[in-house]
Amino acid sequence: MKVSSEPWTEAEVDEILRRHDGREGALLPILNDVQAAFGYVPDAVVPIVAHALNLSRAEVHGVVTFYHDLKRVPADRPVIKLCRAEACQARGVERLAPLFEADPRVETETVYCLGLCASGPSAMVGDRVFARLDEGSARRLIDQAAAS
Ligand code: FES
Repeated sequence: MKVSSEPWTEAEVDEILRRHDGREGALLPILNDVQAAFGYVPDAVVPIVAHALNLSRAEVHGVVTFYHDLKRVPADRPVIKLCRAEACQARGVERLAPLFEADPRVETETVYCLGLCASGPSAMVGDRVFARLDEGSARRLIDQAAAS
């Protein structure tokens, strides 16, 4: 039996690859799924993905490093993506942002639009989105993310 300290397994990567089998332009969706599953794109996954898609490691590595959203190391704190685009600004996100940024339990990333412009301010944790944030719900969201 193989004991691994890695937060991912090759079998899990294979399963992700299977889901995208035969799909055109699958590289970015695969990398997004890898990140969603493991919290980052481990360097050791790059050659596996490259081999499956018949791409060079350099091509896959280039995509991983180009997209700011793809992480090469696990986040040491839960990540909250906070939308600070125009519509969310108009709905008061700048008043809430200090709550997120000042809390050392979470890492706050600025994003520009989560597709919930009419019900901002909006944020995202993992694949869950949160809308109509006010001070109370923002504090609850931070507590919830910090506990995850
Ligand atoms: S501007 Fe914030 S969700 Fe679109």
